[in-house]
Amino acid sequence: MSRVVVTGIGLITPLGTGLKHTWKNLISGKSGIVLTSVLPDFESGKWNQVPSKVVGRVPIGSKETGGWNVLEHLEASEARRLALFAQYGLAATAEAINDSKIDLESLDKSMVGVAVGLGIGSFPDAYDNSVAFETGGYKKVQPLFIPKLLNNMAAGNISIKYGLKGPLHSVSTACATGLNAIGDGFNFIKNGYADVMICGGSEASLHPLALAGFARARSVVTDFADEPHAASRPFDGSRSGFVLGEGCGILILEELEHAKRRGVSHFYGEVTGYGLCGDAHHITAPEASGEGAFRAMEMAVKRSGLDPSEIGYVNAHATSTVIGDRAENEAIRRLFGANSELCVSSTKSSIGHLLGAAGAVEAAFTLKALETGDIPPTLNLKNIGGHKDDNVESFSKFNYVPNKSIHKNINHALCNSFGFGGVNSSVVFSKVKEV
Ligand SMILES: *[C@@H]1O[C@H](CO)[C@@H](O)[C@H](O)[C@H]1NC(C)=O
Ligand SMILES: *[C@@H]1O[C@H](CO)[C@@H](O)[C@H](O)[C@H]1NC(C)=O
Ligand SMILES: *[C@@H]1O[C@H](CO)[C@@H](O)[C@H](O)[C@H]1NC(C)=O
Ligand SMILES: *[C@@H]1O[C@H](CO)[C@@H](O)[C@H](O)[C@H]1NC(C)=O
Repeated sequence: MSRVVVTGIGLITPLGTGLKHTWKNLISGKSGIVLTSVLPDFESGKWNQVPSKVVGRVPIGSKETGGWNVLEHLEASEARRLALFAQYGLAATAEAINDSKIDLESLDKSMVGVAVGLGIGSFPDAYDNSVAFETGGYKKVQPLFIPKLLNNMAAGNISIKYGLKGPLHSVSTACATGLNAIGDGFNFIKNGYADVMICGGSEASLHPLALAGFARARSVVTDFADEPHAASRPFDGSRSGFVLGEGCGILILEELEHAKRRGVSHFYGEVTGYGLCGDAHHITAPEASGEGAFRAMEMAVKRSGLDPSEIGYVNAHATSTVIGDRAENEAIRRLFGANSELCVSSTKSSIGHLLGAAGAVEAAFTLKALETGDIPPTLNLKNIGGHKDDNVESFSKFNYVPNKSIHKNINHALCNSFGFGGVNSSVVFSKVKEV
């Protein structure tokens, strides 16, 4: 049976452009959450109508300093034709390909595929074209409106740019998108559809209308307007909603023998198990017992052939909502029992919730934790499980890595991603043994 390893990573997050910057900032406990009042279009007067005042935004600046400047990644003429999420997708893919040192030109490109998804689509293009049509009529609608809008365009553009003719796939399972893309890419390779898959998720919907929608749904945090770094506080007693974020995560998945044949000696890890299922419960809320999360994790661990006790770290989906964090915690407790050795952290405390990109970015963090032994922290943890309806007993079982990263050698780690619509997904990553 073929084995699937991760040979390259590309990241764009609120903690920086590039894996190196993001990881350094994450491990040193930095936060990428800012006030909407610092956004360049704040003067439009739309952001300040929304009760939520914080977002996780990719910093603007030069690549050298971890910032984002599209012209360092794409030609101006190309950039103009692409929505921001597709720009992020192409830039993170370039980083991941370079990181994996893969020479695509030497490969059979019909065996190299792309699975890059998106949660929402290009919110800014949808909004601008709606307004233009309403106020100016037909001629004001941009000719590139539809290609910019569509969810699968990052995947399409990546495939065209590199001439990749293997599976071309684009998952859209809301906030589980990025992790489902990795799990599906893993299955494509395992089933012989491809030797190499470029997998992940992207999202760039920091728009006042998007934030307004999430605020109306009561999903995002409306407190902490004077303390943005404290706004995302998964598992904490005063958690009160997620922080809307943006970014992109791309992983190069590769069949192990294929990677060995081209002389790869550095692997971030191996994908060993994938679990996914539906809650069949409610469109936005989980079941209190975390049944869906439990089954997804159980399936991923079972398929990896491991015992739950062998998992050393869980990168939780925990978005900082009252009910979601509690349900996931219940599910983790049910699967792993009382295990004070198990580290459970939510990196959303540092970057917010990247929606369709979240699972891919967090999978990259999980792999870096395996590779380096640095376990990223859960920031802002003062009162673990201290919400009035939390079961304090369940919240006392694990090491939530409060505030500061720790160093601990682990062999297997699990990453969770759940999404609106009731999707629950989970992937197990392991250190590569017996190469
Ligand atoms: C490509 O990877 C090398 C290391 O293998 C690194 O030094 C270089 O900065 C990377 N280039 C880009 C554009 O990411
Ligand atoms: C990417 O897609 C846009 C349409 O959104 C197209 O105009 C452009 O030529 C494509 N670029 C590449 C490199 O595939
Ligand atoms: C984490 O930091 C906060 C201050 O932001 C502090 O109040 C809290 O006690 C710390 N938590 C732990 C477990 O050290
Ligand atoms: C399973 O998916 C649902 C989607 O509605 C999500 O809200 C929930 O958080 C997930 N389950 C758990 C227990 O977290």
